[in-house]
Amino acid sequence: MIKKAAVIGAGQVGATAAMRLAEKELADVVLIDVIEGVPAGKALDLAEAAPIEKHDAHLLGVTNDYGAAKDSDIVIITAGIPRKPGMSRDDLLTTNMGIMRSVATEVAKVAPNAILIIVSNPLDAMCHVAYEASGFAKNKVIGMAGVLDSARFRAFIAMELNVSVENTHAFVLGGHGDTMVPLPRYSTVAGIPITELMSAERIESLVERTRNGGAEIVGLLKTGSAYYAPSAAAVEMAEAILKDKKKILPCAAILSGEYGINDLFIGVPVKLGKNGVEQVMEIKLTEEEKKALNMSADAVRGLVADLKRLGS
Ligand code: APR
Repeated sequence: MIKKAAVIGAGQVGATAAMRLAEKELADVVLIDVIEGVPAGKALDLAEAAPIEKHDAHLLGVTNDYGAAKDSDIVIITAGIPRKPGMSRDDLLTTNMGIMRSVATEVAKVAPNAILIIVSNPLDAMCHVAYEASGFAKNKVIGMAGVLDSARFRAFIAMELNVSVENTHAFVLGGHGDTMVPLPRYSTVAGIPITELMSAERIESLVERTRNGGAEIVGLLKTGSAYYAPSAAAVEMAEAILKDKKKILPCAAILSGEYGINDLFIGVPVKLGKNGVEQVMEIKLTEEEKKALNMSADAVRGLVADLKRLGS
């Protein structure tokens, strides 16, 4: 059966995600945006590339017409505003909260069985808004952050050691922000922990670069934020779900006591399959790592409290 994916927000991340979904023939794609003409134009442009890229995925772009997303299997939500230089992800909270609430409400009406992949920032807080507005079960609302953060860490490890990115594996936990928790102990090159391949100072500098990975790109682009890697990360998650791969990926999921955390979306390793989050994997953390994860959880809790104050 051909799967159906809706991508809400036809901007940089959304359009690139639509392209990747189509080129991998993972699903037919519907692009939705508030701007007149843009989603239709981008979908048509992508459809015209199909003969060259050799895929038969159908692409449709519409403005505000959620009926087009009816019965989607998966919905990637990128709607919102991106960061400008000097802004943190948290500075987007008020604007993106309103957008996320209206989008998730509309999506839930037309695609009640879909799995939601949330991309808009501040990520962990936006997951809470989407979870509440959609009324979806816990396993069906998932945030994209850890896949991107660990891809950045992997890219930096490969550059540092001059090895193939394919040999690298990295784990990043926690919120998608300055408090994210990269775990060098669980980060490997061909199975060898990087702690055996690099000095503690070098690892710390790569960890720091990973934490600031988004800001580094915002600073270079001047307008807008990263989109090639974020769209690749969202589509890796979509692929794991659409193909029921049971793939373990770091994602933002709402916890029910795992890692001692309750009712909070935070980045943890999860098993992704056709039911969305099929399992939260609990890995052993050192005291220091636990402390860092708790600090990260506190930062997310602070944002969720702000949401409540703002009337989410
Ligand atoms: N419904 C649908 N689309 C919307 C809505 C809405 N209510 N409000 C805004 N949009 C659309 C905008 O019109 C725009 O086309 O969302 C799109 C966002 O695209 P960009 O501005 O290009 O931003 P992008 O770089 O794609 O980032 C989107 O993802 O990574 C995060 O921090 C980033 O929150 C940001 C989001």
